[in-house]
Amino acid sequence: MLEDDFGREVSGVRVSLTDRCNFDCVYCHNEGLGDTRGPMDPQDDEMTADEIVRFLEVVSEFGVRKVKFTGGEPMLRGDLEEIIERTPDSMEVSLTTNGTFLPGRAEDLKAAGLERVNVSQDAIDPDAFAEITKSGAYEKVIEGVEAALDAGLDPVKLNMVVFEHTAGYVEGMVDHVAENSGLQLQLIEYMPELTGRPEWNIDIERVHDWLEEKADRVETREMHNRRRYYVGEDSGEGGMVEIVDPVENPNFCANCHRVRVTHEGYLKGCLNRNDDLRSMGEMSREEIRETFRETVANRVPYYGEYMVKEEGEWVVNDDYIDAPVTHS
Ligand code: 5AD
Repeated sequence: MLEDDFGREVSGVRVSLTDRCNFDCVYCHNEGLGDTRGPMDPQDDEMTADEIVRFLEVVSEFGVRKVKFTGGEPMLRGDLEEIIERTPDSMEVSLTTNGTFLPGRAEDLKAAGLERVNVSQDAIDPDAFAEITKSGAYEKVIEGVEAALDAGLDPVKLNMVVFEHTAGYVEGMVDHVAENSGLQLQLIEYMPELTGRPEWNIDIERVHDWLEEKADRVETREMHNRRRYYVGEDSGEGGMVEIVDPVENPNFCANCHRVRVTHEGYLKGCLNRNDDLRSMGEMSREEIRETFRETVANRVPYYGEYMVKEEGEWVVNDDYIDAPVTHS
């Protein structure tokens, strides 16, 4: 596996298949690219299935064993099943989706080799859901989650961004996964860095404290030191809740093992940065190899290295101000 200067091996890639989306979530950072939502028809700038497969074959040579397909809404790609089918067998495939297209397609995705899925569900209330996602597709999402469970995707994780608009629904969502086996909940700290609305922030530590009280059992995972909270175990069903809290968290960045790929085929070493984008050119295998090596070599932990704390404030480390990203 390739490793960066901070000892972080790259074991996974997160590939955006499109930046088109049928939702317009108020919090969306669009994979760090900002809100560039455009037309819903297939776009020329998107990587083709051939290009995606070629990329995955090359990185699998470097021991990358995991791929997560994302977007935009990746299920807007009609060739998603084909892409998954053609993904190297050595890679575990997961998907992050808004769930609306899972009814009718979950089985085919599973048959193509999809193992697990993350469905964004930010509230357990249709009105709040509509306000957050600017979509009336709540029922479709619920159906999509059912379809994923029925197809045997395991686990089905619900992603909930915790911020001003959703904080009141955390308890309802926790109870929901406690009552439905097969479901897990990821409470995701709202990332204001890329959305420009810091006032929507809520203190994620309060959610940790509240869950600690509510949980029957707490485990700490090696990855990111993430805590797992088990709830509702006495009811017979029971569920698991994780909090993903990357904001201003050097420990999170120190444990980051993934490289991203934009829908246009640029490698991206950090969600929070856009000065490190690297085109894979016309995608010859050699160009991909070289660009991937460079991207990994240039990766630095965002919090704790690229950003450092001075007098209580996070500021860009002097070492990186105006420093061009080097071509190694
Ligand atoms: N903060 C936190 N998570 C976000 N996501 C998108 N934008 C943000 C943000 N500003 C995550 C959500 C969603 C997934 C597609 O991306 O978890 O489910």
